[in-house]
Amino acid sequence: MIKDAKKYNHHVIKIHNLNKWFGENKVLSDINLILSEDENLVILGRSGVGKSVLIKCIVGLEKVEEGEIEVLGNNITRMDEFELNKLRKHIGFLFQGGALYDSMTVEENLTFPLKRNAPDLSKSEKDDLVDDVLESVGLIDAKHKMPSELSGGMKKRAGLARTLVLKPKIILYDEPTTGLDPFTAQGINELVVKVKNRYNTTSILVTHDMKCARITSDRMIIMNEGKIIARGKYEELKKIDDEVIQGFFK
Ligand SMILES: Nc1ncnc2c1ncn2[C@@H]1O[C@H](COP(=O)(O)OP(=O)(O)OP(=O)(O)O)[C@@H](O)[C@H]1O
Ligand SMILES: [Mg+2]
Repeated sequence: MIKDAKKYNHHVIKIHNLNKWFGENKVLSDINLILSEDENLVILGRSGVGKSVLIKCIVGLEKVEEGEIEVLGNNITRMDEFELNKLRKHIGFLFQGGALYDSMTVEENLTFPLKRNAPDLSKSEKDDLVDDVLESVGLIDAKHKMPSELSGGMKKRAGLARTLVLKPKIILYDEPTTGLDPFTAQGINELVVKVKNRYNTTSILVTHDMKCARITSDRMIIMNEGKIIARGKYEELKKIDDEVIQGFFK
């Protein structure tokens, strides 16, 4: 079902004239966006402007009323839940909260999705993969710990590790550094860049943290009241003489 990269012209995500309402409340307005392979896009915007809703639309967790969204060459607005679930195997989604299984160790949190999604791997292949991913997020020594024994930053890294074992083509990060101290946040920023370089993932990262935006973004969009009001590289946006945009760079 997932098409060859050449067939979707290396456009991993393509959003065309997307509009979304909750009742009378229009939360996304005329969104057009193309993301290429290996690109890391940062979405900036004040609270409530529609950032999380937009990324939920991309994984089909929110229904789209108007417009089209293509993910890896598949038009998700026409997919049923069965097809969506197949496509979601290629998408890692890091929610605002992290969401580990509390009753499982870090290691079990990683082997659990593998059992379901990669039944063809042998036990030793699974173990090697889990160790490799834990190594790359710096949690190999915490392998046998329970989530309650981890700090906030370690939980975020464990959440990312759980996403990475499935080798997703796309990762969507919703505020990966919110609530972390600057040192831990910097560790996450570096990890996001490392993951992109090592696993060739395409990602979208929602953040309020300008340092995170500067370090992790290839390109950025700024949203306001459901619309994309600016797009470009960090340094380009920094120069735009607009009150809302400058508000982020202060
Ligand atoms: N399930 C829902 N039902 C009704 N309204 C919703 C729902 N989810 C979000 N909204 C509304 O959609 C708008 C955008 O919400 P969204 O969660 O995308 O904001 P956000 O930009 O991610 O904000 P934050 O930075 O605070 O996370 C808000 O007005 C919110 O109240
Ligand atoms: Mg949000």
